[in-house]
Amino acid sequence: MSHPFTGHTVETARRTLTARFRTNAIDSAELDARILVGAALGLDLTGLITAATRILTAAEAVRLENLACRRLTGEPVARILGAKEFWGLPLQLSTATLVPRPDTETVVELALEMLRAGPAQDPLRIADIGTGSGAILLALLSELPGAYGIGTDISAAALHTASTNARHLKLACRAAFTACDYASALSGAFDLIVSNPPYIRSAEIIHLATEVRDHDPLGALDGGSDGLDAYRALVPQAARLLAPGGVLVVEVGHDQSAEVERLMMATGLTLERPPKADLAGTARAVGGRKLPS
Ligand SMILES: C[S@@+](CC[C@H](N)C(=O)[O-])C[C@H]1O[C@@H](n2cnc3c(N)ncnc32)[C@H](O)[C@@H]1O
Repeated sequence: MSHPFTGHTVETARRTLTARFRTNAIDSAELDARILVGAALGLDLTGLITAATRILTAAEAVRLENLACRRLTGEPVARILGAKEFWGLPLQLSTATLVPRPDTETVVELALEMLRAGPAQDPLRIADIGTGSGAILLALLSELPGAYGIGTDISAAALHTASTNARHLKLACRAAFTACDYASALSGAFDLIVSNPPYIRSAEIIHLATEVRDHDPLGALDGGSDGLDAYRALVPQAARLLAPGGVLVVEVGHDQSAEVERLMMATGLTLERPPKADLAGTARAVGGRKLPS
């Protein structure tokens, strides 16, 4: 049986796939096509350029068509590859983990800014609540060589992926993981607590893009009827666990920053700066500090 990519060169396969993705209204058509051709052929960008005029083998044509079909039915590229880069770090994914988003790098940026503005701590103790793939914790540990951290998650399968990532990134000696409800199993004190909790309103989940709704775990998305359930649970826990002068930084949904700031102030945290916006200009990370004693 002949497949759509039989007889194609690497370059014509890439162009044909881009056109198919465009026809199917896939936003990042060109990039997705390049990545999937690379994945089917085991080539990086340089390899794709050097091999541009080579004809695909039959096996490669079949492999590429399988990957193309998965993307055309709404599976995100990161899910197909089982991997995603975050803060420049290659992370493995599993069905139990959210695909880490570039917006979440705003949490890492604000956390680093607030740490620099506070008293120096050595060693620095970090907790990441709802760590998923370990993205935020591992990014912070990669930036802060004197830091130790613990990631929590309700999903033991997600924690397995996070600890695999820590090992691959050679950060495992400074990272620990524990399964619990938000921060309930932790005892302080922490200099920095970060979290990107589930914050989508339950009723909105049905309206999310298929890439998210059908491929990210529901437990990583659903924030309850007003989207704020997780903050109501974890902000008071975090406020108790922070060392004097310690910092809490959380990711928020596009219209949640004011409400989360109110929750932080209600637990006695002080707001030193406005929420930090992501690249689209949306308030994305909210930070509060526990008063120094
Ligand atoms: C939005 S995802 C964030 C994952 C990761 N931190 C990131 O930014 O890519 C939220 C994470 O919180 C976890 N989670 C949901 N409910 C939880 C709970 N009650 N206690 C601990 N973790 C929870 C989910 O399993 C998921 O991994």
